[in-house]
Amino acid sequence: MMRVVVLNGPNLNLLGSREPEVYGSTTLEDLERQISEWAGSLGVEASFLQSNHEGELVEAIHHAAEADGIIINAGALTHTSRALGDALNSVATPAVEVHISNVMERESWRAVSLVAPACVRTIYGRGTGGYRDAIRHLVNRATMTFETLRYGPHPDNVGDLRLASSGTQRLAVLVHGGFWRQQYERDSMETLAVDLTKRGWATWNIEYRRLGGGGGWPGSGQDVRLAVDYIRKAPEVDTAAPAVIGHSAGGHLALWAANRPPTETVGLTVGLAAITDLASLAASDGPGSSEAKRLLVSGAPPSLEAPPSTLLVHGEDDELVPVSQSTRLADTARLEVFPTLGHFDLLDPTREHWSTVFAALENAEN
Ligand code: DQA
Repeated sequence: MMRVVVLNGPNLNLLGSREPEVYGSTTLEDLERQISEWAGSLGVEASFLQSNHEGELVEAIHHAAEADGIIINAGALTHTSRALGDALNSVATPAVEVHISNVMERESWRAVSLVAPACVRTIYGRGTGGYRDAIRHLVNRATMTFETLRYGPHPDNVGDLRLASSGTQRLAVLVHGGFWRQQYERDSMETLAVDLTKRGWATWNIEYRRLGGGGGWPGSGQDVRLAVDYIRKAPEVDTAAPAVIGHSAGGHLALWAANRPPTETVGLTVGLAAITDLASLAASDGPGSSEAKRLLVSGAPPSLEAPPSTLLVHGEDDELVPVSQSTRLADTARLEVFPTLGHFDLLDPTREHWSTVFAALENAEN
């Protein structure tokens, strides 16, 4: 069983009562119980330490040398402690840095992390769910190797290429969601990428510029097109017409990126809970509406058509993106609505929609 050590630093023992408007109302005890459950469901055993003392955290990192992963929320020591960064560099165990709050949008000193360079990934601004995402990332890293390639000049112009063990491979490009916001990154698509690559597909799980990080419109869309063009030239894969799979806001970018002249076609476009109509999202005043407004103001098209070969998959229980975002294109795209699935269920390859998606990918022309 994979073993992960979860370290929480100064003041995190006061979670629940400490600045609940910033850190929420979950206590550390409840959080650790929740993390154990998340870990258990992914076949991981989690152990925990919270300490207000830097030296104790340094020693806990040394002891974690035998573990399979470290998850560390170093609290304010994140911004001051070279010793913690050195300790993480002293062990080979991969570490993921987590922050509950959005450290990039608070005081400027919180945007600086002395721990990050020693970590394989930093997750912030996703509430306590960031710990779940950290476990999932460690599991996916341990399952399969990948190569991170740069497709453009911006630091976010990167993607992870996973190759199946043999033969020329068909390629799927994965485009993550998160309402185009900076704190949501490509780790959300990793479980799907790993599943597809296990089944013989090459996968290119891309990052792109997002709102607050140089993206928005048209930058985010342009990056997706650039990433598709880059990978179509890769020698390892059969890239004549890669499939493009996007979730939520990534579905929006995938549909937009796939709608372009025939000489540069992609194969099948798959929208998982895709946003296809910014105008109605902006008017809804629900989740994502302010981001949709920002994209519209910058000139994004108010609504999208379905590219020539499109599968739209939506859960009727979607709590974030209404199913009408997919059903409006039912005349021009294949539409599959799953009654009991929610927004994030579509990122889980063990759920019932995934065999439909996989069959469509296998049967698509390329
Ligand atoms: C924190 C952010 C830090 O800046 C702060 O000092 C903390 C908590 C977070 O989880 O958001 O103690 O790491």
